[in-house]
Amino acid sequence: MNTYYFDNGATTKVKEEVLNAMIPYFSEHYGNPSSVYGIARDAKKAVEEAREKVANLIGANKHEIYFVGCGSEADNTALKGIAYAKKKQGNHIITTKIEHPAILETCKFLETQGFDITYLNVDEQGFVDLNELKKSITDKTILISVMFANNEIGTIEPIEDIAKIAKSKNIIFHTDSVQAVGNVRINVHEMGIDMLSLSAHKIHGPKGIGALYVKEGIDFEKFMNGGHQEKDKRGGTENTAGIVGLRKGSRTCK
Ligand SMILES: Cc1ncc(COP(=O)(O)O)c(C=O)c1O
Repeated sequence: MNTYYFDNGATTKVKEEVLNAMIPYFSEHYGNPSSVYGIARDAKKAVEEAREKVANLIGANKHEIYFVGCGSEADNTALKGIAYAKKKQGNHIITTKIEHPAILETCKFLETQGFDITYLNVDEQGFVDLNELKKSITDKTILISVMFANNEIGTIEPIEDIAKIAKSKNIIFHTDSVQAVGNVRINVHEMGIDMLSLSAHKIHGPKGIGALYVKEGIDFEKFMNGGHQEKDKRGGTENTAGIVGLRKGSRTCK
C-alpha cells in the first residue's frame, strides 16, 4: 500500500540532497567548530556558510542569525531573552490567542515571573485586530509577538502593519515564522521585523535545528548558559550536520 503524506505543516520529509549534504559532517568533517585545527575549520566553514544562506533566505545579515535547537527554542529565546533584558523598562508583552504552544506556554511561564501578557483576539479567519493591538499598548510594553502564519488554519497575519505599530512605539516586534519560511516571501529588514523564529524540519531539513534572527543592536538575555558559541548567546557545541541540513533545506524555499 502506498502512503501519501499531506501534513507538511507538522513536519516534512528530509530531502535526499539534504541528507547527503549532512552525512560528511558526521564522518570526515566531524570536528568541533570551536577547535582550531583542520577538521574543525571545515566544520566552522560549513556553519558560517549556512549562517549566510539562512540570512539570505529572510533578508537578514549573517551576524543577525543565531542557530538554536528548534523553533520552540527560538521562540523561548526571543520571549525570555527580551523579557529579562528589558524588565527594568517594562513587564508587558502582547501576543495572540492563536500562537503555537512554544509561545503560549512561554508566556504562561513569564506570567509566573511577574510579566503581564495580553493575548489578542482574532476574527473568524484568524486575523488580529490592529485597533485592539494599538489599544493594548501601554508604557510598560516591551515586546509584541505575533506569528507570521498560523499552524492550524494558515492565516497570514498583517506583519508589516504590526511591525509599523511596534516601531512607532519603540517596541520590539518578534514573529514566529516557523510555518511561513519557505511558503511566503520574507525580508525582515524591509518588513520591519526585529526578531524571527524558524525551524529546519518544516522546510525539508532535519529535526532538532532552528534559527533565531535578531536585528543588529537588539540586546537579549541568553537562554542557554555554557560555552561562548553563537556570540556567547547559546552555549553548546554547534550541531554542524543539522546546520548544514538547515542550509540545504533552505534551498527548497522559493
Ligand atoms: C508556528 C509554530 N511555531 C513553533 C513550532 C515549533 O517548532 P519546533 O517543532 O521546531 O520546535 C511549530 C511546530 O509545529 C509551529 O508550527
